[in-house]
Amino acid sequence: MLSEPAINIDAIAEEYGLAEHIAELDEIGLTIIPQSTLRLSDKWFNEIRDTILRVGETRTGITYDLARGPSDIPDGRPRVIGHVILSHMILEDQIFERVMTHPVKKALMTHMLGEGHRLAISDAWIKWQTPDSWEGDATTGFHTDQSIVPSPWNWQTPHIANMNWCLTDYTKEDGALAYVPGSHHEQRSPELGEALPQAVPAEAPAGSLIMFNGGLWHGSYRKTTPGLRVTMLGQHCRPYILPFQDFKGKIPEKMYSASLDPGYLRSLMREDETQLIQGPVNPKRQ
Ligand SMILES: [Fe+2]
Repeated sequence: MLSEPAINIDAIAEEYGLAEHIAELDEIGLTIIPQSTLRLSDKWFNEIRDTILRVGETRTGITYDLARGPSDIPDGRPRVIGHVILSHMILEDQIFERVMTHPVKKALMTHMLGEGHRLAISDAWIKWQTPDSWEGDATTGFHTDQSIVPSPWNWQTPHIANMNWCLTDYTKEDGALAYVPGSHHEQRSPELGEALPQAVPAEAPAGSLIMFNGGLWHGSYRKTTPGLRVTMLGQHCRPYILPFQDFKGKIPEKMYSASLDPGYLRSLMREDETQLIQGPVNPKRQ
């Protein structure tokens, strides 16, 4: 018997007024939840944003200024494309646990992936003005997050779903997420060049949460403005997929103790999984 806590989507949806967002996830494949619905303060978001910039500085040796951008450009892919991806952020600070266990996120992720879903990726993105040498209107090419699973898929039961916490304003000019509304109903990845002409920006002010179906066609627009776009994202997967970043056994106990929802956090990190594999004891093999 599984030990995941029962997640009452209906009760959370009622409390926070999520009916429209659940309908959008089904019809459009993406929804934007405003700060007022999340009932979170500016301080809550700013602390996450500032911690990401601090981690970025520690890992890359470069400072990141919201208005002016990076003090230098890291070598390799960031220099070519104009962003840096910081992985495994949940291991860095308790603050990143908060984005995992927020009740609205939990309800909408459960709507898409069912109970027992896992955290698959815990990344922060710091994006700056796209270099002139980068060609095209999109920086991140159009794709689906669940392309590792052969299509066709069932759009009602995606294998993967994602969340983007917007920590700076998301506009097309600021390099927002780009997506094709309703494309998850195609139940396949886009062909090369198929998605961009149909795409729209996911425009949202800082303090918003964007959630979307793993079958949604998406990428991101080039950033034509100075300063930074800062995002905390997190792919999640159903329990039959091994997370791309594995956190089992790596989260300190004190993080669970300090969490407002330790049961859900343990489930996200596969810490309830021993009960799936133990099975009945065979006395002959003792
Ligand atoms: Fe993606």
